Amino acid sequence: MNLKITLLKGDGIGPEILAQSVKCLRAVEEAFGHQFSFTEAPIGAIAIENTGQPLPDATLDLCKASDAVLFGTIGAPEYDNDPAAKMRPEQGLFELRKELGLFANIRPVKVFPGLIENSFLPKKVISGTDLIIYRELTGGIYLGKKTLSKDGTLASDLCDYDESQIARIAHLAFKAAKKRKRKLSLIDKANVLETSRLWRRVVTEISSSYPEVQLECLYIDNAVVQMMMNPSKFDVILTDNMFGDILSAQGSIIIGSVGLLPSASVGNENAMFEPFHGSYPKAKGKNIANPVASILSTALLLQHFGLFEETNAVVRAVHTSFLKNISTPDIFGGSKYGTDYVGDFIAENIEDSEDNLNINDENIDLGQSTII
Ligand code: IPM
Ligand code: MG
Repeated sequence: MNLKITLLKGDGIGPEILAQSVKCLRAVEEAFGHQFSFTEAPIGAIAIENTGQPLPDATLDLCKASDAVLFGTIGAPEYDNDPAAKMRPEQGLFELRKELGLFANIRPVKVFPGLIENSFLPKKVISGTDLIIYRELTGGIYLGKKTLSKDGTLASDLCDYDESQIARIAHLAFKAAKKRKRKLSLIDKANVLETSRLWRRVVTEISSSYPEVQLECLYIDNAVVQMMMNPSKFDVILTDNMFGDILSAQGSIIIGSVGLLPSASVGNENAMFEPFHGSYPKAKGKNIANPVASILSTALLLQHFGLFEETNAVVRAVHTSFLKNISTPDIFGGSKYGTDYVGDFIAENIEDSEDNLNINDENIDLGQSTII
């Protein structure tokens, strides 16, 4: 298969982790005979510095013209610490999600057999964790109207959703639940927020078209507690933009590190693949950032294009790295392995083979989705 992939490295550790993803995709090309072409473009703080825009037009055009976008990370402390900043790197990401119509951000949270001892939670709590978060990406408080009074003492962020925004992601989530454990948890704050009450009404109506899926509705405060105490009770989680951001960060730490989990942002025409985590500015250039979330984002990309054997090859190589204790210090404290080394190891272990590993994970079968 030929794929045109736009690389948006962004800020902080973005360039370092994306370099490892490219190594892995090159290894997939070689092992499976595909052709991937990569073109880079600026976004975020670096784009503001060079072009005055967090999302330059040329970057957007390139993304629109490509088959997929691989995204690094975004955000820089100079902007976070300057409340008066007129432009922020993150705006580039929000505009991109909106312009590409990426309405669903799909975030799988699945325990890695080789890391089950690494979570700060007891093994009996995290064993069996295999949930997937469908986070709405184009609406809510992230994109609603923002105001700041002239004297800077009053601010507001509007949270709004319309029915169609809720319905399109709800259908995706129900379809996913049908193929999984047939349970969908809608997470909201319907005892307080009007938007949440709209979500509940729309999602409950849609649920009648999916009678085989059990729908439960949970308040966000209850959901974070349940997720910490018993993550395996969840199957598919459907939620809005803000709650999805927070819940997914919580999910990643349950699994062992914020550096582990990938995501796919999809719309009707475009698709983008990015880690859950932020730009980790303190680690920039230190070769300590965990590349796994980004590498697994390439696995989601491959899966998106129906390349299941290739997806499994990447996932297997990641599992091998854990089983051999080849990971960055966030996973194995005191580890001497850096971003580059881990990326090389995973890329070198990507092979077109069914049995190159003894992974104790019953879900890893050829042709079967291993991530989503
Ligand atoms: C994420 C990130 C972004 C978000 C930030 C970097 C703006 O936290 O993708 O979860 O909040 O959407
Ligand atoms: Mg986040």
